Amino acid sequence: MSNKKTNLDKREAYIKGLSDNIIKSAVDIVKIEPTSEQINEISTEVTERLQYESSSLLNEAVTKLHPQSLSEMYPEERPERNFERFGKNFRYQHMLMFVSVIILIITGMPLKFPEFAISKFIVIDLFGGLQNSTLIHRIGAVGLIIVGVWHLGYSVASKIGRRDFFLMIPNLKDAADFMGTIKYYIGKSKSGPKFGRFSFIEKFDYWAVYWGMVIMIGSGAIMWYKEFFPKYFYDVGREMHSDEGLLATLSIVIWHFYNVHFNPEVFPMSWTWWHGQLTETEMKHHHPLEYEAIIKEESVDIIKQSENDDVEDNS
Ligand code: HEM
Repeated sequence: MSNKKTNLDKREAYIKGLSDNIIKSAVDIVKIEPTSEQINEISTEVTERLQYESSSLLNEAVTKLHPQSLSEMYPEERPERNFERFGKNFRYQHMLMFVSVIILIITGMPLKFPEFAISKFIVIDLFGGLQNSTLIHRIGAVGLIIVGVWHLGYSVASKIGRRDFFLMIPNLKDAADFMGTIKYYIGKSKSGPKFGRFSFIEKFDYWAVYWGMVIMIGSGAIMWYKEFFPKYFYDVGREMHSDEGLLATLSIVIWHFYNVHFNPEVFPMSWTWWHGQLTETEMKHHHPLEYEAIIKEESVDIIKQSENDDVEDNS
């Protein structure tokens, strides 16, 4: 047990020593006296980079020496490595949500814009009249309510759901990443920010849907059961539903569709919603910080495993 710790600690100590050495050499070259803040900042960066590179090289070396080792420890991984981004539970939630939302948009928009020829086509030719089309709108609404309740339960009761919920909470890094992205787009910096499991773009998408669902379900329920509410509740509810419905539709068609369909990097579509997987290249490109954390954790596992084997061999 103590042996295990020593090996990992030794590795950390080597990395720290190497990092100090690199910074010392850099200071010797530039011949200026850096502030302690500068030293701390560079030291953190160099140490993290060395940790990542050494973990990555350890994994590669293990694979080269004995290709079965990694796949024995991670049987779900194949040589062309894939990472699970979304589990089954989350993917089913997403599927029910997009089916419900498509139904709601197709049956809701003609009520907002009844004068358009396409609205008449949808309501009369496609669904056979207003009664049917509003019934289908309510069926879609039930789908959305089920997803809302399901997702809340998932975010509380499931370990992965709880982890992802907390990772979705916006933080200062998101603000810095937003500024970094703007700087990158206008050519003021050479590279964009590095994202973890969820980028600020994905967080925005998530919370827009969260907020939108609360408004749409709340205001829709008031219209559905208008006999239980005062008239002004209905009027306000309808206004909210109508405007937020259009906003949600535009946000899905412009923001969400661009990110997951029309963005040249994923066009015509990212299939992650179906199989839940990301390739190693996609992980490195879109979620490098999460990728680095996984590789680091695995390298610690490799060391621990080898030490366990040593202990077993010796006993
Ligand atoms: C993405 C989700 C949704 C969208 C885009 C949407 C869109 C719309 C639109 C545009 C209208 C017409 C409003 C107007 O007359 O100006 C409408 C009506 C209505 N919506 Fe929704 N809606 C959604 C979700 C829901 C939900 C979750 C419910 C129920 C809880 C609901 C219940 C209703 C009701 C009762 C009406 C009045 C027409 C009718 O009786 O069917 N909607 N919706």
